[in-house]
Amino acid sequence: MAGQFSGKVAFITGAARGQGRAHAVRFAEEGADIIAVDLCDQLDTVAYPMATPEDLDETVNLVEKTGRRIVAEHADVRDLEQLKAVVAKGTDEFGRIDFVLANAGILPAAGEQGAQIGAFVDAVDVMLNGVYYTIVAALSSMLSHGDGGAIVITSSAAGFRPVTVDFGTASHGAAGYTAAKHGVIGLMRHFAIALAEKNIRVNTVHPGGVATPMIYNEAMAEWSAEHPSFSPSQQPLLDNPPVEPEVISDTMVYLCGESGRYLTGVTLPVDGGQIIK
Ligand SMILES: NC(=O)c1ccc[n+]([C@@H]2O[C@H](COP(=O)([O-])OP(=O)(O)OC[C@H]3O[C@@H](n4cnc5c(N)ncnc54)[C@H](O)[C@@H]3O)[C@@H](O)[C@H]2O)c1
Repeated sequence: MAGQFSGKVAFITGAARGQGRAHAVRFAEEGADIIAVDLCDQLDTVAYPMATPEDLDETVNLVEKTGRRIVAEHADVRDLEQLKAVVAKGTDEFGRIDFVLANAGILPAAGEQGAQIGAFVDAVDVMLNGVYYTIVAALSSMLSHGDGGAIVITSSAAGFRPVTVDFGTASHGAAGYTAAKHGVIGLMRHFAIALAEKNIRVNTVHPGGVATPMIYNEAMAEWSAEHPSFSPSQQPLLDNPPVEPEVISDTMVYLCGESGRYLTGVTLPVDGGQIIK
């Protein structure tokens, strides 16, 4: 049976693992072909291990198992030319882009790494500039077919409430994360207004804690232990099990599909009530 995204193409950043991988697999299950990028390398301001080339290979494997096609490339969202090259390759292969999931991110808050001024710069480069470049790179392909489309930017609960809870947790990386995740709300509104006449809807999703290596890692555990004020601030209202990446994928499908046809300019928390706690 054809899925709701049959004949559509999704461009997904940060697709080697975590939420990006889950989105790639879920959109493929719904019938979309996938253009995936990931840095697959370490940034020295990030205290936990980032994704590897093998992780991206596994995403390719999982998408192909669904029967859909994937173009997957190593690329840095901080580099517009690299993104344009991937989009060109993907568009040559699949002919179009309908959906953009600007998902790539880092959480450079913890450890000595997060205390470097470069952690602020990297956070903003990856999660604000990188989101802008992702959308700019994909836009001409989205506009070329005239069928509209949808863009979803992954912000965070930190798009509403800072990661920092007191002086001790105010690392440069935490500041950059908060600034970038607030900043993409502005970008989203900019594009929602600019692209409405092209029938392209633009929204942000704001997850609370999601069970991925970004937060489940040794460096983060140590940082949380050193700063007992931090973990309680990240707790949801609802007493649910930790949010799996697939829950966020459901939200992406909802926003990109027919179900989301009246939604644009929306900041949608998927945080179990964390931000109102
Ligand atoms: N995990 C959480 O609790 C949580 C909560 C709220 C928001 N988020 C956001 O969700 C998104 C996905 O994160 P995740 O939880 O899947 O973490 P993750 O670390 O598993 O995945 C992030 C991916 O982005 C890639 N990436 C990082 N910098 C890149 C760059 N410069 N260019 C290309 N790719 C790059 C990484 O290699 C990695 O594969 C991020 O934007 C993150 O900030 C995560």
